[in-house]
Amino acid sequence: MLHSGSHIARVRPASSVIGIVDVPSDKSIAHRAAIFSALAEGASRLVDYPTSDDPQSTLSCLKQLGVEVYEEDEILVIEGKGLHGLTSTDADLYCGNSGTTMRLLSGMLAGQSFSTTLSGDASLARRDMSRIRDPLNAMGASIELVENHSPIRIAGGRALKGLHYELPVASAQVKSAVLLAGLYAEGESSVTEFARSRDHTERMLGLDIVEFADRRVITIKGGMDIKARTWSIPRDFSAAAYFIVAALVLPDSALRIPRVGLNPTRAGLLDVLIAMGARIYIENERVVGGEAVGDLVVFSSELSGIELGGDSIPNLIDELPILAVAATCAEGKTVIRDAGELRHKESDRIHVLAEGLSSLGADIEELDDGMIINGGKLSGGMVDSRGDHRIAMSLAIAGLVADHQVSIRNADCTAVSFPGFWEALAELAYAETPES
Ligand code: S3P
Repeated sequence: MLHSGSHIARVRPASSVIGIVDVPSDKSIAHRAAIFSALAEGASRLVDYPTSDDPQSTLSCLKQLGVEVYEEDEILVIEGKGLHGLTSTDADLYCGNSGTTMRLLSGMLAGQSFSTTLSGDASLARRDMSRIRDPLNAMGASIELVENHSPIRIAGGRALKGLHYELPVASAQVKSAVLLAGLYAEGESSVTEFARSRDHTERMLGLDIVEFADRRVITIKGGMDIKARTWSIPRDFSAAAYFIVAALVLPDSALRIPRVGLNPTRAGLLDVLIAMGARIYIENERVVGGEAVGDLVVFSSELSGIELGGDSIPNLIDELPILAVAATCAEGKTVIRDAGELRHKESDRIHVLAEGLSSLGADIEELDDGMIINGGKLSGGMVDSRGDHRIAMSLAIAGLVADHQVSIRNADCTAVSFPGFWEALAELAYAETPES
């Protein structure tokens, strides 16, 4: 599905957000639960598998590879084929907008006996795939790109050997691609990371992890047996982040967001917002399927600017667009550095954010690896998500707090991670759902 449609959402200033909002299940965990279930022996049950486009792309690729997927009492059942039971397909595996689908599946497919081609939408075709090609080819895979981009052609029937790989960028997708290929490699493979990226893959597969002062080494054994099981997928912290910030910046707000995944490699935004003065509380904290989960309770707060960079960035990388909106409402200056990876997401998020927020009157300066934002007032106007779901939702929250209406072009891309976003926003505050 292309997300370059011309749908426009209109968001009017809101006085407050009060209530309970249920956000979609975690997309990162969902992709992995689907892939690991497909490679397990026996049937796995996935509770609360999200209907969002990205995790659905992973499911449809797995189906195309011969994996049986069905629903039983609203639970998704995946009949695992074991490590060597996937079957070939003549058609491209279409990954839509999903970088996680494309990169993780490439790792899984590098060691298959058959050849495959992965492709995606226009945004995915612009993203760099050399970051997975290089380590996978070093394992003995045969992966060809078109000038570092998809379509990705993976020749089958290659014998992979174990690799000890040092991640040049903090990327959970690259880490996971190498670990998945490691399942098919002779001997052991390991990934060393110097900044801690989201750890769902190693957590969910129960891999060996050795922590040193400056690095983490994650090891996988070739041929490792994956057990079929029940996966309970928590609500997505990244989706909750939009409503957390809405409640913080609008006066007299009080919001509860139940069952949110709080894995520390994902929830770095909470610490940053609390350091900025946010009143956010966690209730009913518990562990579900190896992941921390809790109900978030958020009250309007007076925020102050903050400086951040370094190792804190990977744990809030997807939340930087909405943090930038919070910074426009904070007292004083916010400086975000070491976030150059933001330029390699579904859009160049540094540039697109600076463009969108400055056209709403924000004082924002684009840096090579981040931005500087001086808090102040937002006016209204027309902005463009550039087809990036996280930009569309961040600009929508900016619209709630702006002085005048904000119209967002290309607003339907929110379905990538948050179908029902506009409806949820309209229920809590005021927004018109997108129209063509
Ligand atoms: C993801 C990893 C991150 C993140 C993306 C999801 C994952 O990407 O931005 O939304 O599920 O592994 P990188 O690996 O490129 O940092």
